[in-house]
Amino acid sequence: SGTPVKVAVTGAAGQIGYSLLFRLASGALLGPDRPIELRLLEITPALKALEGVVMELEDCAFPTLAGVQIGDDAEQIFDGVNLALLVGARPRGPGMERADLLEANGAIFTAQGKALNKVAADDVRIGVTGNPANTNALIAMTNAPDIPQERFTALTRLDHNRAISQLAAKTGAAVSDIKKMTIWGNHSATQYPDIFHAEIAGRNAAEVVDDQSWIENDFIPTVAKRGAAIIEARGSSSAASAASATIDAARDWLTGTPEGDWVSMAVASDGSYGIPEGVIYSYPVTTRDGRWEIVQGLEVDDFSRGKMDATAAELVEERDAVKELGLI
Ligand code: NAI
Repeated sequence: SGTPVKVAVTGAAGQIGYSLLFRLASGALLGPDRPIELRLLEITPALKALEGVVMELEDCAFPTLAGVQIGDDAEQIFDGVNLALLVGARPRGPGMERADLLEANGAIFTAQGKALNKVAADDVRIGVTGNPANTNALIAMTNAPDIPQERFTALTRLDHNRAISQLAAKTGAAVSDIKKMTIWGNHSATQYPDIFHAEIAGRNAAEVVDDQSWIENDFIPTVAKRGAAIIEARGSSSAASAASATIDAARDWLTGTPEGDWVSMAVASDGSYGIPEGVIYSYPVTTRDGRWEIVQGLEVDDFSRGKMDATAAELVEERDAVKELGLI
């Protein structure tokens, strides 16, 4: 109990928002005893739809939900927030080039970074789900110079969870028996889901699987292309699982990872594992009291090195492109 934690969600009237808000309001983040106040940001034309979502939130009568505020002004919505989940982003439209996409999102994340810098609570933590998530986080971080860089992360937890689920299906293990999964790099098709350090009931996962061809030709592409497979099957993109991963990531960041396990989070590279500084790169991290630390000292063989460098190269390219556009 105590004072409510103020949680901002952008793109709150979108698909992910429709799953995310109800779980936040029911206590999935910090338990049912910690009141939560929602601050929901949308663009003006989506505010009416958002009012409908708020009516439904009211109708759930969640005991945990201490208040809801909606609006289209980032400085009002982010005022005093302790956690900002930046979900809203501009999707790639027909005929849109990559540079157009980066520019459209650049405008959003520049403005939101500046607003957070100005009005968020001193302890604010920011998780970026909206794509291109890593580079959007870099833009927001660069535009919020007074917020410590380690408070910005981008979401690769969905990829992490997908990887655990695929490995469980392959080996017949329970998901709860799988520890130390790692997603390296970008939340994109170049990401590298790595099971060489993962454990299944305490045994090395790659040794249990004992099938390099499955890892290369099945596991990695299945995880990396899962988003496209869901669009193909469902006719729209993964929303409930993205919302679930957004909560998993924020919860573990705030409350800590269990002993003997870690999670994947995209954070500002400090040069660990030879990854260039100045990109938001997904690493294995442990968390405690709202702080994360990159897991150090993992052995990296040539196969992994190649994949880790390829996804880093894509992030460097994205960084150079947004630099060129004057967004960072
Ligand atoms: P959606 O299109 O249903 O919802 C996005 C919402 O953001 C819309 O309601 C839109 O009005 C709003 N929005 C746009 N600009 C805004 C701004 N400046 N301020 C506030 N709100 C704004 O999309 P959906 O399915 O909810 O996905 C949201 C984002 O999450 C997309 O970029 C998607 O690619 C990304 N995503 C990321 C995943 C990850 O693992 N990192 C997984 C799945 C989706």
